[in-house]
This record gives sequence, C-alpha cells and structure tokens, in this order.
Amino acid sequence: MTTALVTGGAGFIGSHLVDALVSAGHRVVVVDNLSTGKTRNLNSSAVFHRMDIRDDALSGVFEAEQPEVVFHLAAQMDVRRSVLEPVFDAEINILGAIKLLELAVKHRVRKFIFSSTGGAIYGEPESLPASEACPPRPKCPYGASKLAFEHYLRLYHDLHALPFTILRFPNVYGPRQSPEGEAGVCSILIGLMLRGVSPTLYGFGEPLRDYVYVGDIVRGCLLSLDRGDSETINLGSERGASVNELFAILSDLIGFRGEAKREPLRAGEVAQIYTTGERARALLGWAPEVDLRTGLAHTLAYIREH
Ligand SMILES: NC(=O)c1ccc[n+]([C@@H]2O[C@H](COP(=O)([O-])OP(=O)(O)OC[C@H]3O[C@@H](n4cnc5c(N)ncnc54)[C@H](O)[C@@H]3O)[C@@H](O)[C@H]2O)c1
Repeated sequence: MTTALVTGGAGFIGSHLVDALVSAGHRVVVVDNLSTGKTRNLNSSAVFHRMDIRDDALSGVFEAEQPEVVFHLAAQMDVRRSVLEPVFDAEINILGAIKLLELAVKHRVRKFIFSSTGGAIYGEPESLPASEACPPRPKCPYGASKLAFEHYLRLYHDLHALPFTILRFPNVYGPRQSPEGEAGVCSILIGLMLRGVSPTLYGFGEPLRDYVYVGDIVRGCLLSLDRGDSETINLGSERGASVNELFAILSDLIGFRGEAKREPLRAGEVAQIYTTGERARALLGWAPEVDLRTGLAHTLAYIREH
C-alpha cells in the first residue's frame, strides 16, 4: 500500500484516478481548492484537504500525511483563460507547482507524476502524430506553463534526485467532465445537444484531436507508479478525430436532428494535434482500450443521469 497525494483529486481526471487508487488498495490524500472540482466527485475513502496548492499550509499536509507518491493534476487548464490571464495561469501552473516540488523533495517523496499536455505543448507540429521528440512550440500560455514545469521537474530530478514521470495527456473525455466549462468538447457538445441547442463547431469542425477515454488515462497513471522513471510519455491514441466526426457520432447516439454552426478557431487553439502512443506501449505497457463511440456512449449516459 502506498500513500498517494492527488492534487486536483476532486476534478474530472483526478477523481477517477483517486477512485482507481482506492480500489487498488492505496491510501489516498486529496488536495483541491474546488475551483473547478466538485465535492460530489470525491471518493469517501480518501482524506480531503480543501486547499490551494499555493497555500503555505500545504507543508502541514505533507507533515501530517507523509505522501510517498504525488500525482500532480491541479491546474489552471483553460486555454482561453490562459491567453487572457497569463499571470494567473503561471501562478498556479508554475509557481504553485514549484511549491509542491519543494515539499516533495523535503519529504523525500518516492515519485512525482505530472499530468502535462500533449494537446497544447507541441503547437502545430510538422508531422503527425506528434512524438515526444517533436520540438515543443506551445501556442498558448497554458502550454508554455506546462512546458516550463516539465523543465523544473527534470531539474529537480538532477538537483535533488527526485524520481518523476511526465505524462502528456491528449484530449481526455468521459464522465464527470463538466459540460459547462470551456474545456472538454465532448461534454460541451453533449450538454447542448441534449437540450436541443445547435452547437458551434470551431475551426469549422475540422480540427483533429486524439480523444482518449478517462479510464484509459487513469490506467496509464497507475502504470507509472512503478514504470517510466525519468521519462516523458505521450498517452496518445495516434488517431486524429475531427469535431465533425464527434458531432456525427453524438447526433446518432442522441437522435439529434439539428445542424451545427461552424466558425473559425479562437485564439490559442491549434488546428491539428494528435500524439503517438509508442513510448507508452514500450515503457508502460499501455494502450488505449475504449473506442470513441463506446466512450462517448458512457459519457452521454453519465450526463443524462446527472
Ligand atoms: N482534460 C484534458 O483533456 C486534459 C488534457 C491534458 C492535460 N490535462 C491535465 O490534467 C489535469 C486534470 O485536468 P481535468 O481535465 O481533470 O481538469 P479539472 O479542472 O476537472 O481538474 C483540475 C482540478 O484542480 C483543482 N485546482 C485548480 N487549481 C487549483 C489550485 N490552485 N489549488 C488546488 N486545486 C486546484 C480544481 O478544483 C479541479 O478539481 C490538469 O493538470 C490538466 O492540465 C487535462
């Protein structure tokens, strides 16, 4: 049994990770300020500290709970907000995360696992799917802050021998992703289409992304508890699906007869990004298992229920 600290554990991906860790018999501590996370997502077997990662009181959590592993998922992850408020973005995604690193070193954490982004770090790569060797060229402050923290993580490994794995998540979707937020196109489309509202498809519905179901991402996180040390790994599906394709599948699943509106991309958004899964296969023994239609059906069922 490992004591794992999950920052952002009341959020969409973090809460599924907490559930999986608890099911695997680990002791789980959650730190979340509930800025986008929800108490209803919290696993009752986890210890919960409502706290901002920038708060000095975080050192008390490390002292009391003595985590052996840190999964760092808490983040400002709204691309458009990062364009409008880059300082706010950096305060959480860089400065807050460095505070966490300092505590991880002080308390001799066995491993630090970071949820980075494959979708916002590469910019518009020259070839697709983008591999980890592709030079990162973020097009938004969110991608830049995630990349900056990757550098800190490697630095802390070199300076302080802190073991780490960087997981670059693709476009993750599934139950508990908010249909009201700015991120999470699948849930946003479902939310609108269930109410009979025609959604707006930006980039005229053509942007390609790799959509990976949250359960698959959580499996990748758990595998990196014991594998992938000092590595940067895309959890990619290698397949780009267009927003038009999502809309078509969802129209079919929901029985939606309306048309979508189509508009140009917004600031900070990339036209095409999907990433490799080769290193994840080799280093973690990971590959996505849930196909898009099945994953969307699960997501739709959840949103209908809630
Ligand atoms: N959803 C995706 O497609 C995707 C893709 C790439 C990377 N990621 C990364 O995965 C992680 C989780 O994303 P998610 O989709 O679950 O988002 P989310 O917004 O549901 O989860 C983030 C959680 O962090 C908490 N949080 C935010 N700022 C905090 C702070 N300063 N202190 C403490 N808690 C704070 C929020 O309340 C929330 O519960 C993020 O780091 C994100 O950058 C997500």
